[in-house]
Amino acid sequence: MTETHSIIIGGSSGIGLAAARSLTAAGHRVTVAGRDLDRLKAAEAAALGVTARQLDACDPVATRAFFAAAGAFDHLVLALGSSSGMGPFASLEPAAVKRQFEEKVFPQLFVAQAALPHLAETGSITFISAVSSRAHMPGTAGLAAANAAIEAVVPVLAVELAPRRVNCVAPGVVDTAWWDFLSADQKGAAFVDFAGKTPVKRVGRPDDIAAAIGFLIADSFMTGHCLVCDGGLLLAG
Ligand SMILES: NC(=O)c1ccc[n+]([C@@H]2O[C@H](COP(=O)([O-])OP(=O)(O)OC[C@H]3O[C@@H](n4cnc5c(N)ncnc54)[C@H](OP(=O)(O)O)[C@@H]3O)[C@@H](O)[C@H]2O)c1
Repeated sequence: MTETHSIIIGGSSGIGLAAARSLTAAGHRVTVAGRDLDRLKAAEAAALGVTARQLDACDPVATRAFFAAAGAFDHLVLALGSSSGMGPFASLEPAAVKRQFEEKVFPQLFVAQAALPHLAETGSITFISAVSSRAHMPGTAGLAAANAAIEAVVPVLAVELAPRRVNCVAPGVVDTAWWDFLSADQKGAAFVDFAGKTPVKRVGRPDDIAAAIGFLIADSFMTGHCLVCDGGLLLAG
């Protein structure tokens, strides 16, 4: 039996790194990619058996070369993102919203495109959006627009790229470096606030989202779906 090879772009931290660990434990060969070399080395140490490769997914030439070097593979996880574009609509900087698209939406889409010639017909693509796409939370209009854009593409690609499967996970609030634009005190206070509003009474852990990613990869009858994994935050209104 041939080995299943999964590639996680944005796999050196947070949700992508947790997915790398759980897919390795499930027997996959896993390659993770990110920009920062120190983070990549730490990821290789934290997730034994994972191969780390440097890539800026905003660079289309480098991205095509990355996949050409990787060769044929089975599953693609798009875990890269951006914290730009948050804030009240009245004072939202157009440049910050543009960055959210340039640092998350466009690279997720164009990485998926660059991967296609090498992605197995029996394989899958898993995008990572965010529950802000539908959470009607004040201060998240920029994030809502970007993450809804990713989710809109998923059913289209599930049909267009079939029999490859295309899915998405929409995480709620998860304790990762994504929140490092806040000070430690602000982050702690925000998490206490979100945990209080969330039916499961805690914020997410990267492993929670990795389990949802693993499910979508493993179930060969799942395609065109966006799986919300938010501890019930959406229900809190
Ligand atoms: N944490 C949350 O509460 C939350 C909630 C909803 C959705 N999400 C989404 O979940 C996804 C994963 O975020 P996370 O929370 O795990 O954040 P994270 O811990 O900051 O991880 C982001 C990963 O993406 C990589 N990355 C960023 N830009 C890249 C680029 N241009 N090329 C290659 N790699 C790149 C980062 O490594 P380098 O910086 O070294 O490149 C890192 O490995 C993001 O799309 C985020 O928007 C997160």
